[in-house]
Amino acid sequence: MTTNSVVSSQPRHIAIVMDGNGRWAQQRHRPRTFGHRAGVKAVRAAVEFCRRRGIEALTLFAFSSENWQRPQIEVSALMDLFLRALEREVDDLHKNGVRLQFVGALQAFPETLRQRMQAATSRTAANTSLTVSVAVNYGGRWDIAQATQAIVLAAMRGEIQAESITPETLAPYLCLSDLPAPDLFIRTGGERRISNFLLWQLAYCELYFIDTLWPDVDAACLDGALQDFAQRERRYGKTSAQVARAS
Ligand code: FPP
Repeated sequence: MTTNSVVSSQPRHIAIVMDGNGRWAQQRHRPRTFGHRAGVKAVRAAVEFCRRRGIEALTLFAFSSENWQRPQIEVSALMDLFLRALEREVDDLHKNGVRLQFVGALQAFPETLRQRMQAATSRTAANTSLTVSVAVNYGGRWDIAQATQAIVLAAMRGEIQAESITPETLAPYLCLSDLPAPDLFIRTGGERRISNFLLWQLAYCELYFIDTLWPDVDAACLDGALQDFAQRERRYGKTSAQVARAS
């Protein structure tokens, strides 16, 4: 993962916490799963938006390590929804040149879903218009722990010296290390937190929070986020004057 040192008016990588499906459904006196189904439509619109705008990568938090604690009926409905969304959407995504991948502790999912995720990943692997990463059973702390495990194993095999471990040598073991670091984080639904999403990867990310519930997010909302991003000065620890000189 690379960290840009130049001022950029458009993000290369957008990461989204898609919050508010449950409340959107409750406002309509419908079950929470109705909101998740509406959320899939908003996912489709966001993918299309990013593709048209030439964004390189979009990462979506679809199911956190903590979401297993939700009522069993909601967890099952979400699994079913992921499976059906995969069946329905992959042809179009592939046709549009979208590369799809899944990040998280995937072994926890039912075999059918895992196979479907693997098939979609392999089928779209060579696509280059936009990389969509779906974070499922993902947690930022889990990610750092799994990277640590992997680097400790490499050290035990003698491939790396423990004393030489730095942020740069650990980074390739983390999820999304093949992509530029997310430079715009969007959370919908009114909460102002990161909720254990990409803790390491968001180090220098611009944060953008909106009250709009995820199913209501459309191109105009995302456009608002891009306009806001374009106003931000990204300093990476430098002074404003240094950034101005470098650009
Ligand atoms: C958060 O809203 C949303 C989720 C935990 C699930 C996200 C899933 C989707 C948008 C649908 C499928 C996605 C893909 C990639 C196919 P919430 O339930 O916490 O809402 P609340 O805060 O209003 O209760």
